[in-house]
Amino acid sequence: MEEYQKILLQNKAWAQDTHEYDEEYFTRLAATQTPQLLWIGCSDSRVSTGRVTDTMPGEMFVHRNIANLVVEDDINVLSVVQYAVEVLKVRHIIVCGHYGCGGVKASMSDGKSGQIAQWLSNIEDVYERHRDELDALSEARRVNRLVELNTIVQVKKLAKLDIIRRAWAADAHYPTLHGWIFDLGTGLLDEILYMAPD
Ligand code: CO
Repeated sequence: MEEYQKILLQNKAWAQDTHEYDEEYFTRLAATQTPQLLWIGCSDSRVSTGRVTDTMPGEMFVHRNIANLVVEDDINVLSVVQYAVEVLKVRHIIVCGHYGCGGVKASMSDGKSGQIAQWLSNIEDVYERHRDELDALSEARRVNRLVELNTIVQVKKLAKLDIIRRAWAADAHYPTLHGWIFDLGTGLLDEILYMAPD
């Protein structure tokens, strides 16, 4: 059996089990979504948002791209942030990087081309700004430090967006912005940056 066929079967079993456990589950799920959080994470298949946060469908609005970037002229991430803030009124926005990120690693190597090269140039800018610190590190540590710095920069870019500035002008407490790092080796999330309306 092909992998995709297995997934369709797993879905049937899950839907059946879930309905047996709670008959109203899908009725409630279909009615509305009221997530409190927006998650901006990496597309990496190992960082499964719902699984690592042990959240249920409906709890988190999710955007994922290579290396969890907030690019100021990317209409995709901007519309997700706008919808999350203005319509869903999420209270917390999490940018989650992860150690061993292939996108971050690739940004440090040669031979990139096309859209990937263009996308990862955003991380090269982060490297340039922290070149002295990063060049002094061992290779393994350098990737993970760049993962941390990249996550911090993305949260700070979020804080400068008009969407967030407007929301902060209207509400003294929310949304709060968070930089988290997921450690694939331990399964743990760590908060490295917190920003709230000033
Ligand atoms: Co990654």
